[in-house]
Amino acid sequence: MNFWLLLLIFVVAEIGLTKMVRALDETKSPFAGVVRALRNLVAPTVFFYLWLDSGRGDGDETPTAEKGAPLRVFATLMWVSIVHAALGLLNALLFESADTSTWRGRAPKLFLDLVRFFLVLLGAAVVMSEVWGANLGDMITALGVGSIVIGLALQDTLGNLMAGIALLFERPFNEGDWIRVGTTTGRVIETNWRSVRLETREREMIVVPNSVLGKEIIANFTNPRKLHAERPQIGFSYSDPPNKVKRVLKRAALATRGVLTEPAPQPRTLSYDDFQITYEVKLFISDYEALPDILDEYTSRLWYAAKRNGLTIPFPIRTVYKTEMPPAMTPPEPPDHGVSLSAVPVFGPLEADELAELAHEAVAREYGRGERLVNQGDAGDAMFVIGSGHAEVLVTNESGREQVVARLGPGEFFGEMALLTGEPRSATVEASDDMQVVVVYSNAMRAVLERRPDLARDIAEVVETRQAGLSAAREAGDGPAGDSQDVEHRVDRLLGRIKHFLGV
Ligand code: CMP
Repeated sequence: MNFWLLLLIFVVAEIGLTKMVRALDETKSPFAGVVRALRNLVAPTVFFYLWLDSGRGDGDETPTAEKGAPLRVFATLMWVSIVHAALGLLNALLFESADTSTWRGRAPKLFLDLVRFFLVLLGAAVVMSEVWGANLGDMITALGVGSIVIGLALQDTLGNLMAGIALLFERPFNEGDWIRVGTTTGRVIETNWRSVRLETREREMIVVPNSVLGKEIIANFTNPRKLHAERPQIGFSYSDPPNKVKRVLKRAALATRGVLTEPAPQPRTLSYDDFQITYEVKLFISDYEALPDILDEYTSRLWYAAKRNGLTIPFPIRTVYKTEMPPAMTPPEPPDHGVSLSAVPVFGPLEADELAELAHEAVAREYGRGERLVNQGDAGDAMFVIGSGHAEVLVTNESGREQVVARLGPGEFFGEMALLTGEPRSATVEASDDMQVVVVYSNAMRAVLERRPDLARDIAEVVETRQAGLSAAREAGDGPAGDSQDVEHRVDRLLGRIKHFLGV
């Protein structure tokens, strides 16, 4: 072809393509890159190739593979730029303009890289055979031998590629997921043929080779469920009752933003340690990214909640107790159980010094919800006065089932039957919430009853009523109904037994 005509076509094409690039750039079209490649690479190489080729004369029909080296170099450059532009066009057509809701939009980068790789391989094969006259069959045979060498050299790279392909099919995570690989936790920002890139909370980028990913245990915090349980631990003082601590821990968790109410937070007593009882709270969250903020809010809330509820978060301390012995003549102060025995109706008639004597022999105890203070059938030589909390009296009936016969609260007592008659415990008593009780032992009771026979009668009346209730429950009937004379008679008999048993 005439050189000047060729030049004219080239110049016109360049001007046209430049205008197109500008117009496409303005609309931010994905095709701008393709046209730019046509203008900068394809058009010039085609021009030079045709120009050199035309210098050889119009009638020359020799195949390219047999032409001179410069021409073949230009032919190669021309094909490389054509393949490059074609790949760009394919990309723009299929993927860049694709909606993210379609399969094209969601195709992983690794997949695109592989398609590109095979297209380039194809282009290279065409150039080798068409331009350089290479025999593809021979090349493939050579590659067979060469691939062993190449395979050894590229062992790691190919390992990454294969692991990447395996990950592509298995899909243990997507971009944007929070994952943990080994000891590294981060958000997946990119997956490619060689590695996965994570961004950590510290804003570092961590590159994990696919082959490493293939061997590690991967934890995904985002998929398939966003639900994640975290188990922060905290210690409270030995003097803080565990059930109360657990209530406070749960309430504080429910009030923390980001902690789910369903499944509900689960506080647990974990261990008895040097300075503290350690608790753990299982908190459920659905936003793993916000975990540090959620834990911060929860831990801060706990400090205030502990203070409001009189709980102590201990730190390593050594408490030195210094006891000063009271002078020999000072009468001992009655111990303060926090429970006043005078509030108990049957002890009402007792004088202050008698009450003090009783209290002095007694001990205060705390029980948690669900604990059993006495068990039906056991021997017992103590009675219990309730200071705070409630208890249920349970009796096993004839069919072997436990049945609630009474509920007792502050100011009431139980356990007196075994104490006064020496019989086994007639029922089981279980704390229905946290309780404070005062335990009065038989020797203290005996001393008081010796002086106060009327008190023994009052208690015997209570015992009589309770026994009636018990028989009713055991037999699941109405109990031994009787007239007042009957009851009087039974109380007398009971009183006799009590006095005989206690020797008063
Ligand atoms: P005791 O038999 O020593 O141990 C179980 C206790 O349960 C018993 O003493 C009573 O104090 C109490 N109890 C048994 N039956 C009743 C009842 N019907 N009402 C209230 N308390 C009861």
